[in-house]
Parts: sequence; C-alpha cells; structure tokens
Amino acid sequence: MTSAGELRRRALETLSRPSYSLTNKDMLLLNDNANLFGVNPAVEAVAEAFDFTRLWAYPSENSDVLRDRLASEYGVSSDEVIVGNGSDELLDVVCKTFINQCDVMCQPTPTFSMYKFYATVNLASIREKALLADFSLPVDAILGEEAKLIALCQPNNPTANLFDARDVGRVLCESDGIVLVDEAYGDFCASSALDAVLGCERGIDVRTFSKAYGIAGLRAGFSIARKELVDEMRRVRTPFGLNSFTEAVAVAALDNIKWMTEKVAEMKAERSYLAGKLNSLGFIVQASECNFLLCKSPVEGPGLVKDLRERGIAIRDCGAYPMLKDHVRVTIGPRPMMARFLEVLEPMVSKEMS
Ligand SMILES: Cc1ncc(COP(=O)(O)O)c(C=O)c1O
Repeated sequence: MTSAGELRRRALETLSRPSYSLTNKDMLLLNDNANLFGVNPAVEAVAEAFDFTRLWAYPSENSDVLRDRLASEYGVSSDEVIVGNGSDELLDVVCKTFINQCDVMCQPTPTFSMYKFYATVNLASIREKALLADFSLPVDAILGEEAKLIALCQPNNPTANLFDARDVGRVLCESDGIVLVDEAYGDFCASSALDAVLGCERGIDVRTFSKAYGIAGLRAGFSIARKELVDEMRRVRTPFGLNSFTEAVAVAALDNIKWMTEKVAEMKAERSYLAGKLNSLGFIVQASECNFLLCKSPVEGPGLVKDLRERGIAIRDCGAYPMLKDHVRVTIGPRPMMARFLEVLEPMVSKEMS
C-alpha cells in the first residue's frame, strides 16, 4: 500500500515549519511578539453586548463591516481591503492567487519564515537574497531575480530594522511581479509603506491585529491593495474566514485606537530599558522599530535559549538564520516580565563569562 508520505505533494519534501506553539501557561512567552501589555479591552466590551444566540448563523462572507471600518481608518475604498484569519492567511492567499508551479518567489534573508513556507506549499521556486551587512535591502539582487512574487517585511522580523523607504520604493516600482509588503510591526513605528504600496499597481500591504492591537488569539489580519488585486485575492480566500465575534472586536479595537497607541508607548519605554540592561550584560543589541529586540548573545545562543526554557522563559533562537549566529530575539513586555527575565538571565550570562 502506498504510504501517506509517498502520496504527498513533492514540494512538501523540502518543507519545514517552525513550531511556535507553547502551551504551558506558566511559561513567560517572550518568543512570539504578541502584545504582552495585555488583551485589548475591546474584547470585554464587545463580549458584554454581543448576541451569542446568533452564533448559529454564518458571519458576513467578506467581513464587510470590518472592511468598511478599515477603509475609513486608512483612507482607502472598501474594495481595496481584504481581511484574513490572521495575516498568515493572507500570505497564503497571495501565494495561492498569483503563483503558478515553479514561479519564482524572492525574499531577502533573514526574514519572517512564513513567506517561504506558503510559497513552497504553493509550489513556487524560492530565491533568497542575503541582507547587506547593515541589514539593509539587497535591492539589485532582489530585482535581478525577476520574481513573480517578492516578499518584504517592513520593519523586518527578526532583524527589527526598517528598510530604507527608497529601497522599498525601488522594489515596488521596478519589479514586474507582485510585491507583498508585510507591515505586521508597522504600528510600532512612525512611518508606513502604505502610500508607496498603493502607488504601485502590484503592491500588497499586509497588516495584523495580533501585535499592537493585542488580539492574536482571535486571529485577524488584513491587506490593502488596489481593487484589481483584491478582487483576484477574494476569489481564493476562504469565505466566512473571520468569525463574527472577531470581526466585532477588531472594529471596536479600531474605534478605541488610543488603547493601542498607549500600549505602543509603554512598550517603547520598556524596549529602551531592556536594551540598556542587555547591553550592560554584554549583548550586542540591534536598534529596533518593533516590539522585540534582536541581540547577539555573549554566550552560546542555543544553550542560553535552552537554559532559559528550562527556567520557564521562552525566547527565540535566531542562530539558524544566515548572519545571525548566537542571536536571540526577545519580545518586549511590561516591567515585571522584563525584571523576571533579567533576574533569570543575569546569573546565566555572568556564570558563563567568568
Ligand atoms: C512579520 C510577520 N508577519 C505576519 C505574522 C503573522 O501574524 P498573524 O497571522 O498573527 O496576523 C507574524 C507573526 O509573528 C510576523 O512576525
């Protein structure tokens, strides 16, 4: 009898998906860049008024209320907005919509691992172009691939930096393919690529409610792009993809954007605090435009991540990425979390170094 492995799509043979999920509730999760400053109060507010007896009904097929609200927030038309079950779904939808077998997907590396994952599942041929030594975009190398799809993360996970807007603009203007600009961390920085994306016929901006908005558990993301692109993506997207409770919470979260901006300000203060502390412990900390820090550990990275895990603290080991040997990524949280992290970390680093 043929085994499941033999039956599986051949492209899946090279597929590796990092496993992110940690279920231990006592673990301090500094590894996935969710909003550690708390759940958005929109959740409780919506839950109080929400008609749960209507949950027998399907939600709106395309989440029209949320799309309209996003359109007014970003000054675009509702036809230029598509929502997804997390922005992850939209990364998949972009690949499913535009990739034919063996079409080239090009990305800088290191970057967010899921572009490569969805492109591989959707049968693309992957080309990775190393970031320059200062983590800036290798624009000519990327454009040289003449890719059908280019994925850029702005600011970039895991390197935490914003690419130069002129470089992103060049990729958007000079590529003949689709250019996906993932602004998952865009709410943490002052500038946005949205105008540049919309200025280009083939640009797709992707954003999420999982980071600054503090509702990762509800799964909501969205894309803004020209109507022609959104129309194509809508043909592929799973209908009813967003549940009705999530849609209502996302709308309420946009109505109370003050909560999000306050949490972002708190996060920035804690980010400076943690960067200072890590520096004094011998870490080399990259400047960050995100809710995490990337730093080079003064001691062996994988061992440090493992030791912390055993003490109930999860951080991300970035050592497998090119250029990032012994680098770790730490999500920023409020002071008590940062204090607990430092308390456990300090003896580990000083013991190893003495
Ligand atoms: C750069 C980037 N894009 C997209 C996502 C996916 O976010 P979500 O599916 O929760 O919207 C993440 C999650 O970590 C991310 O770091």
